[in-house]
Amino acid sequence: MAAPSTPLKNTLTGYIRYQGREGHYAFLLHRLTGLGTLLFLTIHILDTATVYFWPSLYEHAIAIYRHPVFMIGEIFLVFSVVYHGVNGLRIAVTDLWLPAKWGIKTQHSAVRATLGVSLVLWAPAAAWMFHSMLVHSFGINVFELIGLG
Ligand code: HEM
Ligand code: HEM
Repeated sequence: MAAPSTPLKNTLTGYIRYQGREGHYAFLLHRLTGLGTLLFLTIHILDTATVYFWPSLYEHAIAIYRHPVFMIGEIFLVFSVVYHGVNGLRIAVTDLWLPAKWGIKTQHSAVRATLGVSLVLWAPAAAWMFHSMLVHSFGINVFELIGLG
């Protein structure tokens, strides 16, 4: 007998089976970046609180965050915040002022534009953060290597 369907199972299989192209991917990315940022914010507020209540634990946490894995995570955190913000504005503006533009074709191009704007806003921060990681974790300074440092 097939396993009974549950709301969670229906939601998750719907994420995969629905074929809504740009609108579908934009929705998934919006949910993922929103929940990801919320998870970060929860941890961030808890660990920041230890600076007062348990200073040695705070120092320990900050030392862990200097690991490249966390630094790469921070680069994706910046993307999450930027994309969620830009896409959130697309949704709000379309909902409030341009409801007639909710058509599939307009939204396909609006989603592409949203992704483009997000990538352009994210790229300088990502490059800078990635370079900082190379300098601090691996002692590689690209500017020195090409004779500009
Ligand atoms: C990796 C990136 C981030 C770093 C290194 C960072 C660092 C910090 C630090 C050092 C503080 C303490 C400031 C103080 O007490 O003077 C702080 C507070 C805070 N941060 Fe972040 N932050 C980051 C990203 C974020 C993001 C993405 C959000 C929101 C989604 C956020 C929300 C907050 C909030 C709400 C506080 C509390 C402010 C307060 O208690 O006065 N942070 N952050
Ligand atoms: C630049 C600021 C932000 C804007 C403009 C924005 C905009 C939006 C909008 C319009 C929605 C509704 C999406 C829909 O109806 O389909 C939404 C959902 C959501 N936002 Fe934000 N948001 C912002 C910041 C944040 C932050 C900082 C967090 C996390 C701490 C967050 C977490 C979420 C979550 C979890 C959802 C629900 C996602 C879902 O149901 O799929 N948002 N946001």
